[in-house]
Amino acid sequence: MSRMPATGSAADFLPERRTLPALRAAAARCHGCPLWARGTQTVFGEGPRRARVMLVGEQPGHEEDLAGKPFVGPAGRALDRALEAAGIARTDVYVTNVVKHFKWVPKGKRRIHAKPNQMEIAACLPWLEAELDVIKPVVLVCLGATAAQALLGPKFRVTKQRGAWVPARWAPYVTATVHPSAILRAPDDAARHAEMERFVADLKRIPPVLTARAA
Ligand code: URA
Ligand code: SF4
Repeated sequence: MSRMPATGSAADFLPERRTLPALRAAAARCHGCPLWARGTQTVFGEGPRRARVMLVGEQPGHEEDLAGKPFVGPAGRALDRALEAAGIARTDVYVTNVVKHFKWVPKGKRRIHAKPNQMEIAACLPWLEAELDVIKPVVLVCLGATAAQALLGPKFRVTKQRGAWVPARWAPYVTATVHPSAILRAPDDAARHAEMERFVADLKRIPPVLTARAA
């Protein structure tokens, strides 16, 4: 098993039963692309099956890779603060990534994030499609360009189109905004604060939609 070559697609590992536990267990054994050998473990999505909001990031980072859970590192903490400020309960949210293994390059003793390529993104997409199929969120939010372009097409520009509802087959309401790590990369406190405010403003468009759907 450990020497198993990548097959080219996660589709080769999809279970017959499409429940979250079955998908998670199957994803743990995925060899759909070469990244299976680079990360510590598959980091599958997390959250209640009845979540009405699904957030999709790029790929797990260093801390997520070790914990086996999405968005538990610095970007995840920024995301948690923003969700709270936007009045969105964590219990309403399912969080996942386009690519489920941490892609990294060594830098001294550290592991530095490396961008997933088109082959890896395409290979991993069946997991995200299966998650969408089970959760059937009311609102889907792409966090950053990787998620936006994987789900909304290569021409999508987060800088120009952030915060707007865009028609897409994935959910009744689909939108994209920046990745929370972009907030952390702001050059100074003032810029970081402004970026956070814009991010929260984008997320604040979610609760009214949920209220309207529930009514
Ligand atoms: N960045 C992501 O895109 N996803 C995570 O889970 C953590 C950091
Ligand atoms: Fe499978 Fe995705 Fe991991 Fe590649 S990154 S091995 S497709 S789970």
